[in-house]
Amino acid sequence: MITYTTSLDGITADQLQGFFVGWPNPPNPETHLKILQGSTHILLAIDDTDGKVVGFINAISDGVLNAFIPLLEVLPSHQHQGIGAELVRQMLDTLRNLYAIDLLCDADLQPFYERFGMRPYSAMLYRNYDRQSGV
Ligand SMILES: CC(C)(COP(=O)(O)OP(=O)(O)OC[C@H]1O[C@@H](n2cnc3c(N)ncnc32)[C@H](O)[C@@H]1OP(=O)(O)O)[C@@H](O)C(=O)NCCC(=O)NCCS
Repeated sequence: MITYTTSLDGITADQLQGFFVGWPNPPNPETHLKILQGSTHILLAIDDTDGKVVGFINAISDGVLNAFIPLLEVLPSHQHQGIGAELVRQMLDTLRNLYAIDLLCDADLQPFYERFGMRPYSAMLYRNYDRQSGV
């Protein structure tokens, strides 16, 4: 069974293995934990059978108008079971009082996010690729 939690209590880097699939220079599990600790909101999907985190979403917010969702990922072994959709649904519910909730995604994922009432828009981004694994 999958349990969803907004708490990092008792979560260790050991439980955060296998994420950032395909990233050339990924954050390690310790850095991943720091990312979660530094986020305004987080939601984890935990597989009760082994206690591993199998999916997560985070958000950074000013608490007044805006929130940005930088990361959403479900481990390949647990994809296509509705976990990603549940993470997005619960995070949007948490942020529902804000004016703007934004994220960046590839075009092929736009239909996934449209299911939640989000709509495509243009965006600009800047990347320091030498910092991809974290500061
Ligand atoms: C996107 C992601 C979080 C979805 O997680 P999930 O638990 O598999 O999502 P759900 O089971 O709720 O929904 C799956 C549906 O999402 C859509 N979807 C998922 N990945 C997709 C992709 N790369 N392109 C197009 N549609 C995609 C499909 O409609 C899929 O339906 P299917 O299961 O019938 O194939 C997961 O694929 C993932 O971690 N991908 C790698 C990281 C990533 O791209 N994150 C998003 C950053 S914006």
